[in-house]
Amino acid sequence: MRTEQKTVGIQPRARIAEVQEGIYRISTFVKEYGITFNVFLLDDERPALIHTGFAEMYPEVERMVKEVIDLRKLQYVTLLHFEADEWGGLRFVESPNAKLVCSKTSSQLTVQHWYDMPKKHLGPWEGDRISLGKMKLRFLMTPHVHHWDSMMVFEETRKALFPSDLFLQQGDNSPVVNDPNLAKGMIQQYRDVGIFAHEKPVRDLLPRLERLHPKMIHAMHGSSLDSSVHKAFFETLRTQDFAYRNVLLFEKVPT
Ligand SMILES: [Fe+2]
Ligand SMILES: [Fe+2]
Repeated sequence: MRTEQKTVGIQPRARIAEVQEGIYRISTFVKEYGITFNVFLLDDERPALIHTGFAEMYPEVERMVKEVIDLRKLQYVTLLHFEADEWGGLRFVESPNAKLVCSKTSSQLTVQHWYDMPKKHLGPWEGDRISLGKMKLRFLMTPHVHHWDSMMVFEETRKALFPSDLFLQQGDNSPVVNDPNLAKGMIQQYRDVGIFAHEKPVRDLLPRLERLHPKMIHAMHGSSLDSSVHKAFFETLRTQDFAYRNVLLFEKVPT
């Protein structure tokens, strides 16, 4: 019986790039998973983080955030579903003015009833908005697009979509890409990792995302996708099967 878990080695170095005006991507590549883990910093009057990365990434991510803003300015730490690559750097909420923002479902399922979680937090629902100053975050409830507490964020002035684990790409590529072939790797990774129970919630969501006409899709894993490749990614998600098929984190699950 194998019960002892090997810890995945996290590459210590992160990279930072401004991928849209005032939107910074802080990216760490994890070789064992073959993907990057990205944190986004939206620099405005009231700056916001979207995702935090794993706990082990915190010192490096914090160092990068501090290259752009004084941590005392940080107002919102926005986490899109309850998992360690999203929430591992929750320590950011200890910054004096920072508030946790999670979906209403994450709040009800987890934050309100979990040891040592911030009592004061925001739990937005579909259509709720937060103004960062010039930038405006709009929240989209996307249940079962991976987890039942999943949400996405759309920044309305830059038309920037933050879809968390949807639109993932493999590898460690440029901060912004326009290669439609990366969509094949997305499907392969979903099959190998088993993050979606079914294709249906994803396919039901796609028209809602298309109606937003995003200029850029800022994937949590992979590069930010230029609008020229959105069509190819949407089409791939519509036509290729990618739901769980007895493989979980690269290991076959007996049936
Ligand atoms: Fe996830
Ligand atoms: Fe993720």
